[in-house]
Amino acid sequence: MRKTKIAGTGSYLPEKVLTNADLEKMIDTSDEWIRTRTGIKERRIVAQGQASSDLAYEASRKAMQAAQVKAEELDMIIVATITPDMIFPATACVLQEKLGVKGIAAFDLEAACSGFLYGITIGSQFIATGMYDNILVVAAEALSKIIDWKDRSTCVIFADGAGAAVLQPSFDNSGIISNYLGADGTGADLVGVPAGGSRLPASQETVRDRQHYMKMRGNGLFKRAVKAMIQAIDVSLEKGGLTYNEIDFFIPHQANIRIINPVAKRIGLDKNKVCINLDQCGNMSAASVAVALDQAVREGKIKKGDKVLLTCFGGGLTWASLVIEW
Ligand code: UT7
Repeated sequence: MRKTKIAGTGSYLPEKVLTNADLEKMIDTSDEWIRTRTGIKERRIVAQGQASSDLAYEASRKAMQAAQVKAEELDMIIVATITPDMIFPATACVLQEKLGVKGIAAFDLEAACSGFLYGITIGSQFIATGMYDNILVVAAEALSKIIDWKDRSTCVIFADGAGAAVLQPSFDNSGIISNYLGADGTGADLVGVPAGGSRLPASQETVRDRQHYMKMRGNGLFKRAVKAMIQAIDVSLEKGGLTYNEIDFFIPHQANIRIINPVAKRIGLDKNKVCINLDQCGNMSAASVAVALDQAVREGKIKKGDKVLLTCFGGGLTWASLVIEW
């Protein structure tokens, strides 16, 4: 079995910045509430007409450039998203066409905030068996399109962006050391979009009742997030034969600073080893960790040989944790 490394990363954030002050003008909220309850100061929002595949394309180009891989060398494209361009065809197929390649496998993966780590884990299986050599994993979200801008419990949190990684076989120590995926459907009602699928197809009533927007029971999620993330970290470290103090850098899902802090404290990591971008980027679901990884790589925060821990928790419920030697 071959080891999988991340040969290159890329990310893209839409140009439009929406600050907490902007939100104060739109709904009954305050900068103080948003900052202290979530840690978010501003976030990026897509332009009219901009969809997830557009963000995915920009992030993919940068990741492929960093990995020095041409589109025609790709073997497979996986797009993790809960905001596909449309229900079907897959956004991965739309992206494939934008990248100018034909024939290679392309599919979407829906694991909400854990999607990028699910994608890397799935992609790495094809590298391990020797079936493929270059796999593009992209997490792209245009969450502003499914947010109810009248619902202050969600619209201050979620945002848009995309991150990408090119997976390749590794022939040295670098690469994925261990990974762990999990899910619990008993929490499926805690966050989601009720209408627009086969259970509640689009109708005048569903539109009138705002059922096409994301509904979230934040408190219920909050209670489970810290516990699930710590458990996922413990399993992934145990599988890799590692202890907390061997981790050089931690990239958690960026849902809430009040979730990240206790998790980081529990594993005893200094603040400067914990990657935070939610203050600038909000919660971009699957794209959060993907963008944070690329930013950390480009800012030189991750160095060759570092052991990087990435951990996510989100809708589904789903969770994932992965340790990679850079
Ligand atoms: O990434 C996917 C997974 N998602 C998560 O992991 C989200 C996890 N949950 C959270 O991050 C938090 O639960 C939230 C940030 C969503 C909410 O924070 P909270 O501390 O759980 O607040 P709450 O929902 O318990 O609401 C507290 C109060 C309420 O007012 P009352 O009933 O105490 O008078 C809300 O109405 O805060 C109020 N509130 C707001 N006030 C100002 C809720 N949203 C806002 C707002 N501005 N935007």
